[in-house]
Amino acid sequence: MKKILISEYEIQRRIEELANQIDSYLEKEDSDDYPVFVCVLTGSVFFFSELVRKLKTEVITEYIKVSSYQGKVSTQNVQILKDISVDISNRIVFVIEDIIDTGLTVSKITSLFKERDPAKILVCTLLDKPSKRLVDVKVDFCGFVIPPEFVVGYGLDLDEKYRNKPYIYVFEGE
Ligand code: IMP
Repeated sequence: MKKILISEYEIQRRIEELANQIDSYLEKEDSDDYPVFVCVLTGSVFFFSELVRKLKTEVITEYIKVSSYQGKVSTQNVQILKDISVDISNRIVFVIEDIIDTGLTVSKITSLFKERDPAKILVCTLLDKPSKRLVDVKVDFCGFVIPPEFVVGYGLDLDEKYRNKPYIYVFEGE
């Protein structure tokens, strides 16, 4: 039997709260330019599309693709497979992640973006597994802190499977 960690209802409710928090944050920033929201492909797609649609602030959506996982194990070698195509200098950038585990992926992305002189880089993740960190990461907005278990569903995969479940559950197979 599946061990559901976060139900569809809890996910939806939390995304609404995150969208409100981000709207309030951006209201205070009062920037002239549209903020750039970067979806980290592929796992963040569901979270990203729901989050940006719940925002009142108008934003630009961009996509970056990285790879580092083989099965359930991080290779610790993060490669950028597809970069964003918009100029982010002097703009507020939000990196939207599905999950932060070792922190290597998000830290690689933020280092890359920092070289492009953005006004600010903020990190928003649906899930955080802080006990597995290998590098320090500043998480600005977080949906749920979870235990160090391998989870799938709601965009999260194991070898491209299990993404299309509306809830998140602990993967207990081999
Ligand atoms: P990090 O670089 O170790 O922080 O891992 C980030 C990426 O690893 C995420 O964007 C996911 O693609 C993947 N990942 C980490 N933990 C899990 C998990 O529990 N389930 C599915 N994917 C995971």
